[in-house]
Amino acid sequence: MINVALFGFGRIGQMHGENLFKHPKFNLKYVYDKDIKLAKKAISKFKTTVIKNYKTALKDKEIHVIFIASSTATHINFIREAAAYKKTIFCEKPLDLDLNKIISCKKYIKKFSPRIQIGFNRRYDPGHYFLKNAIDKKKIGILQKIIITCRDPAPPPYSYLKTAGGIFKDMIIHDFDLIRFYLKNDPISEVFATTSDLSEHAKLFKSVKDFEIATVVLKSKKGVLCTINNARHCTYGHDQRVEVFGTKGMLISNNKRDTEIELSNSNGSNLKTKLLNFFIERYKEAYYLQLHDLAGLVTKKKKPRADFNDGHQALILAIAAAKSLKLKKIVKIN
Ligand SMILES: NC(=O)c1ccc[n+]([C@@H]2O[C@H](COP(=O)([O-])OP(=O)(O)OC[C@H]3O[C@@H](n4cnc5c(N)ncnc54)[C@H](O)[C@@H]3O)[C@@H](O)[C@H]2O)c1
Repeated sequence: MINVALFGFGRIGQMHGENLFKHPKFNLKYVYDKDIKLAKKAISKFKTTVIKNYKTALKDKEIHVIFIASSTATHINFIREAAAYKKTIFCEKPLDLDLNKIISCKKYIKKFSPRIQIGFNRRYDPGHYFLKNAIDKKKIGILQKIIITCRDPAPPPYSYLKTAGGIFKDMIIHDFDLIRFYLKNDPISEVFATTSDLSEHAKLFKSVKDFEIATVVLKSKKGVLCTINNARHCTYGHDQRVEVFGTKGMLISNNKRDTEIELSNSNGSNLKTKLLNFFIERYKEAYYLQLHDLAGLVTKKKKPRADFNDGHQALILAIAAAKSLKLKKIVKIN
């Protein structure tokens, strides 16, 4: 059994807690959240121990994995400490909002040769991953375009938004990462971003200096054109589609629904049920599948699909997008 200490028991932490609890290879030994009352919910739900000081987990020699699902601002410090204690680390995206903090952490942890997996769960979505394999096997010939649509059903709460880091670093970071995953050794060389606020949510986003809709256009060194089409509200569910286009064809990883049943009647044809509501439902499988690699990482048998460097590189693109928006021009990446 792999003993895990889960740090952070908010929206995503509770979902990870459930997966770790259900997974046959993991034992959720500890849960830590600075909100002790919240963390205590884990005791009856997951038969685990809630700790008041996270160092209890670090000092416990039986703990193999520190699983970081707390607020973004806490990630880097937890990584530094967990690496020094020689733990295997899982850390939610984004690594941090500040590139310098990531660079100095990278230098500091190098001496511990830590094993780190980053929570870029979309790499584990079976549909999105099918596209990755197909691109690598040249099933669509030479890759020419990547088009990602990512629309959340509703904005996160104000309490989350005010510290999350904005649409590029918090939300679109998933799409930057997925593009890098598909492009493999072909780095992004140009980024252009634009945003807008047109709905009743505009006031909320303005209050946190953020935006409700964005489009980002990127170009790779070889010339692949990538479009990211995002919104932080969407009346019909969690709209998640990826299209890759090449010289020999096109592939789509499509939305997911409750059922695949279609109804045709006098109101229309091929009517389908609603899209799955949000990331926890849409990427349910992916969140679970990424744990298999985490188990492999502990036993040194497997490398995760996303590591510390992927977290670092995705943030570089997010920062370039924010810069492009500010300067209203294309930003080149070296
Ligand atoms: N991979 C994904 O799809 C995905 C989805 C949502 C969120 N996230 C990421 O997960 C992280 C958490 O997001 P969330 O939506 O669960 O936020 P949240 O605000 O619901 O939960 C964060 C939790 O962290 C706790 N926390 C804050 N500081 C802490 C500290 N010093 N020590 C221990 N606990 C602390 C808070 O009390 C809270 O319970 C963020 O970094 C976010 O970007 C990833």
